[in-house]
Amino acid sequence: MSQRSLVLLKPDSVRRGLTGEIIGRIERKAGWKLVALELRTLERSVLEQHYGEHVGKPFYEPLVEFMASGPVVAMVVEGERVIEGLRTLAGPTDPIAAAPGSIRGDYGSIVRENLIHASDSEDSAEREIKLFFPGLA
Ligand code: TYD
Ligand code: MG
Repeated sequence: MSQRSLVLLKPDSVRRGLTGEIIGRIERKAGWKLVALELRTLERSVLEQHYGEHVGKPFYEPLVEFMASGPVVAMVVEGERVIEGLRTLAGPTDPIAAAPGSIRGDYGSIVRENLIHASDSEDSAEREIKLFFPGLA
């Protein structure tokens, strides 16, 4: 089942020079490919839509601030069961709970600075891809 997922390499990934490493892991996965990729600094309005489900939670404001604090790498990845697969590759939200071998498990220790976003469902993927890459065929 081929799917598409929206991935963001967060500002900590870019600042720490980890984007090549992370993109490499995604590219090497058999049957997955990049169909869009761009370095960009996100507007607050885009982040408010992207993280709409978290409005009002205590971590929401610092999360939006952090995500706007520097450029991110936004991409769309296409391939076999890529939505579930990227969530597995990323690891759980809390990097300390994430297994070594996952991106968050290998490189993170702070929940907010957990390196990567990946769509969590087919509905989220469709919504997020439209938000970040409206022109993508
Ligand atoms: P969430 O959608 O729960 O996690 P995920 O990115 O794994 O889908 O939360 C969105 C982001 O918000 C998460 O990647 C990091 C941040 N966050 C915090 O800073 N503190 C928290 O307690 C939680 C749950 C998330
Ligand atoms: Mg989420």
